[in-house]
Amino acid sequence: MYVVDFMKLSEQSSKELGLRLESIFMRVHDAQLSKRYDCVWDCCCDHGYLGTKMLLHKLHGQFLFVDQVPHITDRLLSRLGELDVDNYQVITADAGELNFISDKNHLVIIAGVTGTNVQTIIEDILTNNSAVAIDFMVCATRGNFEVRSYLQAKGFYLLDEILVTEKKRHYEIIHVTVLKEAGRELSDVGEMWDLQNPDHLHYLQGRIRHFERESQGEARNDDGVHQNAKRALLSYQSLMDGFLGKGSQ
Ligand SMILES: C[S@@+](CC[C@H](N)C(=O)[O-])C[C@H]1O[C@@H](n2cnc3c(N)ncnc32)[C@H](O)[C@@H]1O
Repeated sequence: MYVVDFMKLSEQSSKELGLRLESIFMRVHDAQLSKRYDCVWDCCCDHGYLGTKMLLHKLHGQFLFVDQVPHITDRLLSRLGELDVDNYQVITADAGELNFISDKNHLVIIAGVTGTNVQTIIEDILTNNSAVAIDFMVCATRGNFEVRSYLQAKGFYLLDEILVTEKKRHYEIIHVTVLKEAGRELSDVGEMWDLQNPDHLHYLQGRIRHFERESQGEARNDDGVHQNAKRALLSYQSLMDGFLGKGSQ
């Protein structure tokens, strides 16, 4: 009876991971082969499919599921209770209010929320845990230029970045660390581009159109948005010019 339930849950869990969450899973999987993190926090976990797959695949570490909505965490807690694992915790809280133990290595995953939300959560976590070095893996639904600018300003370094396209929507997955020696400079537009890949080309052209509109349209009345859009537009255009220049040589 137990085995049947476990298999059903296992099948459901892997079946329901789209490419976006699967790509995050693979990155954590690879990091945990070398036991990089003691604690992996699936913040904004909602259904918890990502963390559930990590548990089912017996990745190294303690897995902490966090969501601010009680009925979501209640349901998740009862689903996880059916698994033969105990290296997890389910926490009902605003992710920004979390406290991190300083002698552990932490990875905080924030996926499926806006870039503004990502920044707010990271800002609150950093404020409340100033003595702890925390790595982040973020995948915002939008606002990646602003997220990158924020991470740069906070002194993060890049471990890995990738563009994932799922159901015709594009997502950047950005993995950063505060440890300079472990990472490299984080670019404001990313350095993972392959313009032979139609998804990459489509995404970058879309970014340019978006920031052209923002720098020319009503956003001009909001100086902050306007300046940001102009800066973003310049960065994306110079990225594209660099590629076109390279191509014509
Ligand atoms: C769209 S789901 C994302 C689920 C999953 N991470 C994914 O990428 O598919 C967003 C979830 O984030 C939760 N959430 C949003 N802001 C939060 C915060 N500050 N702290 C904790 N949970 C938050 C919401 O309750 C919701 O369940």
